[in-house]
Amino acid sequence: MNEPVKSIKKIAVMTSGGDAPGMNPFIRAVVRTAYANNITVLGVERGYEGLIQGKFRELRIREVGGILQRGGTILQTARCTEFREAGSQREALRHINNAEIDALVVAGGDGSLTGALKLAQKGVPVIGVPASIDNDIYGTDMCIGVDTALNTIVDAIDKLRDTASSHNRAFLVETMGRTSGYLAVQAGIITGAELVLIPEHKTPPREVAQAIEEAYRRGKTHAIVVVAEGYKPPTTELGAMIDAMDIGFTTRVTILGHVQRGGKPTAFDRMLATRFGVKAVQFLLEGKSAVMTALSGREIIPLPMEEVINHKKVIANDYIEMASMLAR
Ligand code: ADP
Ligand code: F6P
Repeated sequence: MNEPVKSIKKIAVMTSGGDAPGMNPFIRAVVRTAYANNITVLGVERGYEGLIQGKFRELRIREVGGILQRGGTILQTARCTEFREAGSQREALRHINNAEIDALVVAGGDGSLTGALKLAQKGVPVIGVPASIDNDIYGTDMCIGVDTALNTIVDAIDKLRDTASSHNRAFLVETMGRTSGYLAVQAGIITGAELVLIPEHKTPPREVAQAIEEAYRRGKTHAIVVVAEGYKPPTTELGAMIDAMDIGFTTRVTILGHVQRGGKPTAFDRMLATRFGVKAVQFLLEGKSAVMTALSGREIIPLPMEEVINHKKVIANDYIEMASMLAR
């Protein structure tokens, strides 16, 4: 994992996959840490798409001023299926060599880290940084963007509860997370949801209806069910099924969607992204490659990217049990 330290004069930084609030503070931290170490930084535009096309621009100290508080990513990002092909990866390597880039820092989700490892295996020193609102990346307690997304979800559910209880309604609220139920479970606990539905656990629609009906019988004025987007059947279908049953409440469905990915990063995300950005450059200076900056407790450690992408992150059972025990 540790290569003999070759002098690093120029690095490139990129954001890839789904954007995550905190990507901008991350870019700022990389640029400023690099400059403190006399390293020039190029920004790659639109993730792997820009790498294949050689779309680089120099990021100086001032260019990353005033972005700390902004959501999204100033470098933009993309889903680029082309990069999965060896030919495109060779094309990216050609641009990396032509631009005399000594090393790369890539922030993104599982897919982006898989792409980053491919480059590392071809000899480019690469550091991965976990950034995905889904928090589905193995080996790190938190990814950039998770805390901001959770705060957005909590804010939305608090508002939905106001209208739900004014009308005696049950709300199914869909959260993002692709195949992970992490956001749904966390949000369910801290908004006091009656039920959380996640892809990792099968809960048949009949049981969902029963839980809502029980809430009604206990005298609740509303019922909130948080549904992770990966749960089957899809939320709108489930909503129609539940609404057709006699459960006391009428039912409404709210799909929070991409609003969860936007907004200014929270204090937690700004600090996490900043620490990851600083560490990524320091790891390169220590000669490390093919590792991800991982939050382990309070520390940031280098974790081999191979280990990261070959394992699936699971939601701690404690949280799942807590969600169900507290929903009374
Ligand atoms: P995320 O990084 O948020 O998980 P994606 O799964 O869309 O998002 O991955 C982002 C990008 O990473 C893809 O568009 C693609 O360019 C690259 N990528 C994903 N999987 C691979 C792979 N197996 N090999 C090479 N590149 C990949
Ligand atoms: O990985 C982040 C994420 O927002 C997932 O939660 C969601 O399934 C997916 O990206 C949506 O992707 P897109 O923005 O390409 O529609």
